Amino acid sequence: MRAVVMHETGGADVLRLEETEPPEPADGEVLIGVRAASVNPVDWKYRRGFVEAELPTVLGKDVSGTVEVSRADGFADGDDAFGYVPGGGYAEFVAAPAGAIAKKPAALSHEQAAALPVAGMTAWQALFDRGGLERGQTALIAGAAGGVGHLAVQLAKLAGARVTGSGSSGSRDFVLALGADDYVDYTEQDVGEAVSGVDVAFDTVGGDTTESLLPTLREGGVLVTIANAPPQEAARARGVRSELLVMSAASEQLSRIGELVAAGEVRLELAETLPIAEVQRAHELSESGHARGKIVLTVEA
Ligand SMILES: NC(=O)c1ccc[n+]([C@@H]2O[C@H](COP(=O)([O-])OP(=O)(O)OC[C@H]3O[C@@H](n4cnc5c(N)ncnc54)[C@H](OP(=O)(O)O)[C@@H]3O)[C@@H](O)[C@H]2O)c1
Repeated sequence: MRAVVMHETGGADVLRLEETEPPEPADGEVLIGVRAASVNPVDWKYRRGFVEAELPTVLGKDVSGTVEVSRADGFADGDDAFGYVPGGGYAEFVAAPAGAIAKKPAALSHEQAAALPVAGMTAWQALFDRGGLERGQTALIAGAAGGVGHLAVQLAKLAGARVTGSGSSGSRDFVLALGADDYVDYTEQDVGEAVSGVDVAFDTVGGDTTESLLPTLREGGVLVTIANAPPQEAARARGVRSELLVMSAASEQLSRIGELVAAGEVRLELAETLPIAEVQRAHELSESGHARGKIVLTVEA
C-alpha cells in the first residue's frame, strides 16, 4: 500500500509517500480502506520529535473509509466507518480498534468524518467531562477558530452556555458566526483582563495563554487545558481548579458528534483538503498554528 512513512524527525520534508506493507487487523479490530485522514497538531509534534515515536512510523490518528476486513463485532465488510486510530492513518489501509470508531453517517463525506474524531471528542470531553459545563453557565474558549476550538464553541452553545471565544482579528467574524456571544482579539487585548467570572475556561492554545486564563474564572471555576501542563499552584492560590485533559476515544461519543454535524447542528470547518501526496503542505499549515478549522488529506480508492 502507499503510506506517508516518517523515517526520521525533522521538518515537513521527512514525510514521504512510499510503498509499504498493509497492517493486519487483530481481534477486535477492523482494517479500514482509508478515504480521508485528518491532520492534528500532535502529528507535527511527533514529526519534530517533541512527542516520542518508534521510527519508522506512519502518522495520523483520524480516519474515515470503508471496512475491508472486520475482526470485530458491530462492523461488517463494506461498512463506512470513521474514528480514532493510535497511528498509521496517513495510508491506504489502517487497522482500527472497534471501540474507537463508529459507522459514518451517510450525510457526512469521508473528508468531513475524518476531521471529527480527535477534535470533536477532545472538545466534548474538555467542556463536559472535565469542565462540567452546564446550561446557563459561561465558557471561554481560547483558540476558538482552531480544529478543537471551533467545535467547542458550538458544543458549548448547544449545551445552553454563554460563550466567549478568543483568536486574532482575522478569526473574529468566523467565531461570532459559529454562535459565540463575545470575542476577544488577543492581538489587541489580554484575555485575562478582558474576561471575568467564567465557569469553564478551555485552553486549546498553550504557552503563556494557559496561565493567563486563570483570572477569567469565577471562584471555584475550572481551567481545562489540552495544550500545556496545568498551572495547579497558581490556580489553587486563586481558588480555582486547573486540569489537563488527554482525550480518550469512545465510539458512542463519536457517533453523537457525527450525528450533530450530519444534522447541521454543528458546522464543521475544513481549512484545507489536500491529496495525501501534499502531506508536507498540510503539515506546514498545521504547524503555522493559524489554520481555521481542520486540515484533511484525501486518499484515492
Ligand atoms: N490533550 C489532548 O488530548 C489534545 C487533543 C487535541 C488537541 N490537542 C492540542 O490542542 C492544541 C489545539 O489543537 P487544534 O487542533 O485545535 O489546533 P489548531 O487547529 O492548529 O489551532 C489553530 C488555532 O489556534 C488559534 N490561536 C493561535 N494562537 C492563539 C492565541 N494566542 N489565542 C487564541 N487563539 C490562538 C488560531 O487562531 P488565529 O489564527 O486567529 O490566531 C487558529 O485558529 C494543540 O496544541 C494540540 O496538540 C491536545
